[in-house]
Amino acid sequence: MSSEVLYFELNTGAKIPSVGLGTWQSKPGLVGQAVESAIKIGYRHIDCARVYGNEKEIGLALKKLFDDGVVKREDLFITSKLWCADHAPEDVHTALGKTLEELQLDYVDLYLIHWPIRTKKGSAGFAAENLVPTDIPGTWKAMEAQYDAGKARAIGVSNFSSKKLSDLLDIACVPPAVNQVECHPQWQQTKLRAFCKSKGVHLSGYSPLGSPGTTFLKGEVLKLPVVVATAEKLGKTPAQVALRWGLQMGHSVLPKSTTESRIKENLDVLSWSIPDELFAKFSEIEQARLVRGDFAVHPTSQYKTVEELWDGDI
Ligand code: A2P
Repeated sequence: MSSEVLYFELNTGAKIPSVGLGTWQSKPGLVGQAVESAIKIGYRHIDCARVYGNEKEIGLALKKLFDDGVVKREDLFITSKLWCADHAPEDVHTALGKTLEELQLDYVDLYLIHWPIRTKKGSAGFAAENLVPTDIPGTWKAMEAQYDAGKARAIGVSNFSSKKLSDLLDIACVPPAVNQVECHPQWQQTKLRAFCKSKGVHLSGYSPLGSPGTTFLKGEVLKLPVVVATAEKLGKTPAQVALRWGLQMGHSVLPKSTTESRIKENLDVLSWSIPDELFAKFSEIEQARLVRGDFAVHPTSQYKTVEELWDGDI
């Protein structure tokens, strides 16, 4: 393959930049600076979500960058996500409206259903009494209305299994452009990747470094012997190798950092490649899902087992 991977093309014809700055767990007081640094360094893709609670600070940073003439709105790709408590069709417009207000934007480039999980309107958290059955066709219709109105230039989903994506494709008038899921060398999404490819749905990878700072996830991606050995051979860091692996697999990657040196390091993956013989070794890595979604699994809810949430995707 050619080594330069700057973007991937969506089924809308739009281009999604191959590396986006993740903002999950980016703390207030740090996230604005991270966005500013990232865009000055050359990032053109920022991955946000209403539930991260930091869209307002991101909006302030974007406004400053536009006002200072650092970048133009049309040169950025901004994603946000519909939270589980906002699945009711009549709430989708309001939820996206709040996101746009906080981000100080007229539209997002991509709006995703954050999880195939629904909680009661106004509820916080995933206690059993908050969980209610999803109505993805109803929610999707409201997502399509946002697309038709130009408030979301592409719409998609996140954390959808192959089966849930297939069910959605069966009823969608506007097919989802993206499925954003956990993806890294230790959770390669082999089945889902093939399904997405066959349907023209772009896979975007969150936690591409295995979320090393998230203690409850216990991600060891940056310590995997294959990753470390490849990094040593190529004179790159384990993080760069994990990200470059993703690009060579054909998906965009969304590394989170609020550390300027790492933000820079994580973008320096666009124009070199892991040679075939080293790349092949990644398929031997033992697989383990880090983000299991146990929080939405209750004996009385829609998903009674983790297996049901992911429909057996491995
Ligand atoms: P920090 O934000 O303090 O720089 P993921 O994107 O897989 O969820 O991983 C995010 C975590 O990885 C954060 O804890 C982040 O820390 C850390 N991180 C980001 N970039 C790098 C890097 N290049 N090397 C090591 N750790 C990194």
